[in-house]
Amino acid sequence: MTTLIKGGTIVAADRSYIADVLIEGETIKAIGSGLAADKTIDATDCLIMPGGIDPHTHLDMPFMGTSSADNYDSGTRAAIAGGTTMVVDFVIPDRGQPLMDALKAWDKRAELATTDYSYHMSISYWSDKVREDMGAVVAHGVTTFKHFMAYKGALMVNDEEMFASFSRCAELGALPLVHAENGELVAALQKYYLNKGVTGPEAHALSRPPDVEGEAANRAIVLADQAGVPLYIVHVSCIEAHEAIARARSQGKRVYGEPLIQHLTLDESEYFNPDWAHSARRVMSPPFRDKKNQDDLWNGLRAGSLQVVATDHCAFTTKQKEFGRDDFTKIPNGTGGLEDRLPVLWTYGVGTGRLTPNEFVAVTSTNIARILNLYPRKGAVLPGADADLVVWDPKASKTISAAHQQSVIDYNVFEGFKVTGLPRVTLSRGSVVFEDGRVLANNGRGRFVKRAPFSPDSQALARYKSHTAPRAVARA
Ligand code: URP
Ligand code: ZN
Ligand code: ZN
Repeated sequence: MTTLIKGGTIVAADRSYIADVLIEGETIKAIGSGLAADKTIDATDCLIMPGGIDPHTHLDMPFMGTSSADNYDSGTRAAIAGGTTMVVDFVIPDRGQPLMDALKAWDKRAELATTDYSYHMSISYWSDKVREDMGAVVAHGVTTFKHFMAYKGALMVNDEEMFASFSRCAELGALPLVHAENGELVAALQKYYLNKGVTGPEAHALSRPPDVEGEAANRAIVLADQAGVPLYIVHVSCIEAHEAIARARSQGKRVYGEPLIQHLTLDESEYFNPDWAHSARRVMSPPFRDKKNQDDLWNGLRAGSLQVVATDHCAFTTKQKEFGRDDFTKIPNGTGGLEDRLPVLWTYGVGTGRLTPNEFVAVTSTNIARILNLYPRKGAVLPGADADLVVWDPKASKTISAAHQQSVIDYNVFEGFKVTGLPRVTLSRGSVVFEDGRVLANNGRGRFVKRAPFSPDSQALARYKSHTAPRAVARA
């Protein structure tokens, strides 16, 4: 079966040009003109881009006494309705649970996926067995390991554990990821506000100021450098963390930063809304920041010191958020965004001139594929690549509303946002999975995408070895 996407402009990370795309089966067969196929998709006045890749989701994840509401069915339906054709989700082992057992549990959840997916493995406790099992995880095709520096008493790991895990990543050709917030400080500040009687969502923002994130980002960068391994910092929300990343990069360290679409467009005033539910629905970590921090994140995307835009899609219903009605520390942390990431970024990025269409493709797809070692199978409009494509109508618009979303939750943090720039057709491995507002994919068609380990960062390892080389001093 062949399909031709005809009459559009291809927008890749490096250039835009007019050409048709011929798909054979699941992959792109040719790009050019005068091509013929069994079926044609008309892309007149539209752009043809690689499907979005969301490198940060939490679908059906047990967390803070409940589980995130969107599972692999509703979560990936939201993804394809928004032009995203692949998600990378986090496997979170329970304390003491063997990593491969947790991975199997996630495979079960992922049986509902409507589009392709990969995983990051969380390191939420440390032991010799974890160290050994990380090798099996990499052999299975999961080559990124996440470390939570916050959520004390739950997912948080300490510096010793992080350094041990980072060093193991260096050996395996794996990439460590961090949630950078100083968890000890957050716990102390949470106590402080609760003792003062500030129990509402505003205290969530107050107890997680930017310095808490900046300190942790700096510390993680030092630990990664000492271990001789690159580092990926998730949900970068503030100037302090961005500065740490930019400084590290200017020193030749491979450090990547991932802002979220929420931090780019929503600000901290959301936590001071008199409506408790409005504020609680927006509780996530790190919290939304002020306009100055938002501008700084946009600048980082333009300048290349921040490389990707994710959602950290971890959606909870209002009922679930109610667990923290009298104590903000019990409000499940997380927001949605999978369906909205591309339209909101296009509108507030490309539509305002902050990003070029090519930069948009880079930060929503191609850079992610490169950093996660998926390129050019994913993230590319090239012959041989998976035909994960979005036919994008830059003039189509809508007002975002929970009433029309795929996510199962009862609200949307972008409610009322008018967006211009929407997917008209989404293709996943050559199949039309979304067209003109309708999701056409059955669950179960999504596949796990295995990733190969990275080649070791020889410069970083050389820096590491230079200080581990024995330097005994001869004494009389
Ligand atoms: O608040 C958030 N971000 N929830 C999801 C878990 C995490 O920290 O990534
Ligand atoms: Zn996090
Ligand atoms: Zn997350």
